[in-house]
Amino acid sequence: MRICVIGTGCVGLVVGSCLADGGHDVICVDKDKTRIDVLQSGRAPIHEPGLADMITRNLASNRLQFTTALPDAVASSSIIFLAVGTPEGDGGVTDLSQIMTAARDIAACVDGYKVIAIRSTVPIGTAKALTHTIRQFAPADASFDIVSNPEFLSAGSAIDNFRNPQRLVIGTSSPRALAMIQEVYRPLDLLDRPMVITTNETAETIKYTANTMLALKISFMNETANLCEAVGADVRDVALALGLDRRLGAGFLQPGPGFGGSCLPKDVASLSQQALEHGCRFQLAETVIEVNSRQRRVVVDKTRKALGTLADKTITLLGLSFKPDTNDVRQSPAMHIAKALLSEGASINAYDPAANVEARKVIPEMHYFDDPYSACDGSDMVMVLTEWRQLRDLDLAEVKRRVRCPNMYDARNIFSRQRMQELGFSYLGTGC
Ligand code: UGA
Repeated sequence: MRICVIGTGCVGLVVGSCLADGGHDVICVDKDKTRIDVLQSGRAPIHEPGLADMITRNLASNRLQFTTALPDAVASSSIIFLAVGTPEGDGGVTDLSQIMTAARDIAACVDGYKVIAIRSTVPIGTAKALTHTIRQFAPADASFDIVSNPEFLSAGSAIDNFRNPQRLVIGTSSPRALAMIQEVYRPLDLLDRPMVITTNETAETIKYTANTMLALKISFMNETANLCEAVGADVRDVALALGLDRRLGAGFLQPGPGFGGSCLPKDVASLSQQALEHGCRFQLAETVIEVNSRQRRVVVDKTRKALGTLADKTITLLGLSFKPDTNDVRQSPAMHIAKALLSEGASINAYDPAANVEARKVIPEMHYFDDPYSACDGSDMVMVLTEWRQLRDLDLAEVKRRVRCPNMYDARNIFSRQRMQELGFSYLGTGC
């Protein structure tokens, strides 16, 4: 079965490469010619573990192709996965322009029956709106069904998440489309995973509520961490105990500088906005957004308090991406914190194992370093803002030799207070 994937961001590339790796014939489409050139040469335009190898392997076996020519790709495929961006527009409203443009482009070349599977995160009701748009622009005898098949991949572990999903969600009212989507997943052995087969609207709602629930857990733990600091408790033991209760679940209980990335912040804002549009307030989602912004301020306030002032201090930021194993800095807590520190007159040395290039595009005022030790030279405070493995392995004695004042703010709790104090650091953690 030939499959077309529209959009070559993290989601589209991982879906396309994994489907090709499972034996399908896949063609990935993007309007960005430079990106397609990079992909055709077997390189990955994003940092995602295992992705470049998978692209190279499947290009070589001719199961994976990249193109800018959408009409041919759509015409020759029976299933089209939509994986274009749905960024946050004004006031939390989702910008659907890429989805709607793709819908019109697809409509122009629907010949024979097609299944259009929406993989992007789209507001509830989008599948229905898309059906209308395609009907409007397609030939009168066009035959197609829209399936809502939200993705639950996390940056940094996306390939493993695709191959070992905790569940598949398939929203459609068409038995024919459902059978075709199941056929797509059959060779990948995904059909023995828990599967929720439901309506389009329900599938769309599941995606937003899943991300909002994850964000809620993180924000809950961030507030718990702040309380722990105030009362002298240890948030790590609290998280351990909560996680051992299967009703609560062990994941997403790590406190830190707040959640970031291109999904959680946008999706929580969108859900609260969508609820308002339907005349019902989703107050917990609104609160999660507030708590998350406040958590970044907490980090800046603790730093200022420890140093007396931020003006003219040299601060080292270790980790800039919104989480490890990605070069994505969108809505990264580290970037928000960096801007706040700069605005109060601090000078910043920054190091990230993969995200320096992306970060420099957004905040050129920081001094970027290719190794963490040079970034610590003459520093008044070293802050760990993303828990990269490379930072866990840091030679802390060397860091101590390089800094001006041995202050360590370990916002992700990757080090132990006792060890840091033994080394002579003044240590700040999150909630412990
Ligand atoms: C998130 C969801 O986890 C995926 O299931 C979903 O498919 C994806 O959004 C999406 O909608 O596309 P992602 O944004 O890649 O994935 O990353 P997460 O692992 O969810 O991390 C988001 C943020 O939460 C990061 O800034 C991370 O540092 C933070 N976080 C995560 C914590 O602060 N504490 C935790 O315990 C876990």
